[in-house]
Amino acid sequence: MITLGIEGTAHTLGVGIVDSDHNVMANELDMFRPAEGGLHPREAANHHADVVSRIMGDALDKAGLKPKDIDLVSFSMGPGLGPCLRVAGTAARAFSCSMGIPIVGVNHCIAHIEIGRALTGCHDPALLYASGGNTQVIAFAEGRYRIFGETQDIGIGNMLDKLGRDLGMGFYAGPIFEKLAKDGREFHELPYSVKGMDVAFSGLMTAALSLQRKGVPLEDIALSVQETAFAMLTEVTERAMAHIGKDEVLLGGGVAQNMRLREMVQEMAEARGAEMFVPDRRFCMDNGAMIAWLGSEMYSSGVRMDVSETAVRQRFRTDEVEVSWRS
Ligand code: ATP
Ligand code: FE2
Repeated sequence: MITLGIEGTAHTLGVGIVDSDHNVMANELDMFRPAEGGLHPREAANHHADVVSRIMGDALDKAGLKPKDIDLVSFSMGPGLGPCLRVAGTAARAFSCSMGIPIVGVNHCIAHIEIGRALTGCHDPALLYASGGNTQVIAFAEGRYRIFGETQDIGIGNMLDKLGRDLGMGFYAGPIFEKLAKDGREFHELPYSVKGMDVAFSGLMTAALSLQRKGVPLEDIALSVQETAFAMLTEVTERAMAHIGKDEVLLGGGVAQNMRLREMVQEMAEARGAEMFVPDRRFCMDNGAMIAWLGSEMYSSGVRMDVSETAVRQRFRTDEVEVSWRS
């Protein structure tokens, strides 16, 4: 069985193809980068509509396949931005109807976990999912993936991007923070906001901007923001692992590319006798392969969806999905 998966929750329109042995045959994507300012859902959706058929064609070419070779199509049903989700959903429904093949809508957050489990060889991890829009600690318990902790305000990546823009670093600031922080010399204390298993970043953002007004160099601000925000994430991840007794931690989402975050989680894991896993960069960020993968897992375990059940769900929660494909 060959599955084509379409990702379209936010910036990225991705198309991946996996075979029945779960080899990734293609993983093509095109990311929308706004000229200035933040992500406007309608503009991102227009971008996705412009590129989706080309990216599907590229993925098929890469895999050396024709449309008729595809047995199943899956797509990111949520959570995400409505207009973007609808483009991915519409493309998947059109493909399903025109080729006469089944369709499965999948939860984007769970797709991050499942591709990580499959590619890194971990079995039952706590996932620290740190992306632009999402910041959650997720783990499997009693038949579902449950959210043990999450951000109460903004996602870590969006926080870095917004703060970076306000500090004059330019857009897509996550990697710029990482680069600048390497040259940081002095740590300045910033609000550290952990409430139970949840985190919040708004106080940290305000305080970081006031450091700039006091003339603190950008490198030191970047260092202080990273150290503080990542320590918060590491603490809630550790607490979740202790609470539910997991000795594996998996990183996912675009911010998981940050080497300092990896280092801090790695240290925490080692101190607990646990192990950290991080998928390759192309599978950390939003991508179509993870959507194809989860669709394939779900379908193989007996999940079936009628087209009428494939409406997108902007607030699709991880714990709404009954996990039928894991024993
Ligand atoms: P989602 O829909 O899952 O919320 P997304 O559209 O935000 O995802 P991702 O590719 O998962 O997309 O993550 C993008 C985020 O990752 C951006 O906010 C970006 O600044 C951040 N990021 C990328 N590389 C790094 C890095 N090296 N350090 C910190 N943040 C990074
Ligand atoms: Fe994501």
